Amino acid sequence: MKKTAPSPLKHWLTPALTALVVFFILLGTIVIKKTSPTTGSPESTASATILPAENISLPSPEFRSSNSVEATLKNRRTRRDFQDKELSLKQVSQMLWSAQGVTVDWGGRTAPSAKSTYPLSIFLVASKVTGLEAGEYQYLPGDRTPVHQLKPIQSVELQQALYEALNESSFKKAPAVLVITGNMGKMAEAYGGIGHDKEVYLEAGHVAQSLYLQAESLRLGMVVISSFDELKIKDLVTIPSSDTIIYLIPFGIPKL
Ligand SMILES: Cc1cc2nc3c(=O)[nH]c(=O)nc-3n(C[C@H](O)[C@H](O)[C@H](O)COP(=O)(O)O)c2cc1C
Repeated sequence: MKKTAPSPLKHWLTPALTALVVFFILLGTIVIKKTSPTTGSPESTASATILPAENISLPSPEFRSSNSVEATLKNRRTRRDFQDKELSLKQVSQMLWSAQGVTVDWGGRTAPSAKSTYPLSIFLVASKVTGLEAGEYQYLPGDRTPVHQLKPIQSVELQQALYEALNESSFKKAPAVLVITGNMGKMAEAYGGIGHDKEVYLEAGHVAQSLYLQAESLRLGMVVISSFDELKIKDLVTIPSSDTIIYLIPFGIPKL
C-alpha cells in the first residue's frame, strides 16, 4: 500500500508545541523567582499574608523636647519589662527617625556612617501600634530628601513567635520590636572590595545609643539584644539574604 507523505504542517507542529511549552515553563520560573521575597530560609513566613503595597507616611518627627541630653544620658537604662499597652504611631515614628532619619540635603542621617555608605536597614515588627496592622515593615529614611515612611512587608502577628523562638522575656509583652540589619557587601564595596564588617557593627552601636536616648526622652523603655539564633529569626522575619541581623530591640512603655 502506498504511504501518504506527512503533511508539512504535521512536520513542524510537534516541535513547535514542545518549544512553546518549554518557553512558558521557563517564563513561569522567572516570574515566581522575581516575585518571591528574599529571605534567609525558604520555609519562612508560611502563615503570613502580604500587606497593602502602599507605603505609610509617618508623623513628622519632633526636634525639640524639655529634656537635656545630659539628663537623658544620666537616666538612660536598659528596660526589659513592658506594660501591656499600645504604642502610638507618633512614638514609633520618633524612634525610627532617631535611628536613621535623614537630616541634611546630602543625605546625612541622625547616626554617622563610614564613607557615608549607610549599610544599615531598620525593620519594625509591630504587634500593638495604634493605626498599624500587626506585621513587619521596613523603615524608609529616604536618600537625599527625607522620605520617613514605612514599607509594609508582611501582615503577621509575631509577638508570641519571637518570644518562643528566643526565650527572652522582653519579647513577651513588647508592643514593637526593631530589627537592625547590616549589608556587609555594601560596606566592602565602599572600601574597594575589602571587607569592613567592623564599621557596620560600629554603626549599629551608634544607632542603638541614639535609640536608647530617644526612648528615655519619650519615657519609653528598650533593650538591645545581640544574642540570638539568626536563622530562627530569619524564619520569622523577612530580611534580605544580603543582610546580617545585628540587633533585636523590643521596646514599649516600661513597667514602673
Ligand atoms: C552589645 C550589647 C549586647 C547586648 N545584648 C543583650 C542581650 O542579648 N540580652 C539582654 O537582655 N541584654 C543585652 N544587652 C544589654 C545589657 O545587658 C545592658 O546594657 C547592661 O546590663 C547594662 O545595663 P544598662 O544598659 O541599663 O546600663 C546588650 C548590650 C550591649 C551593649
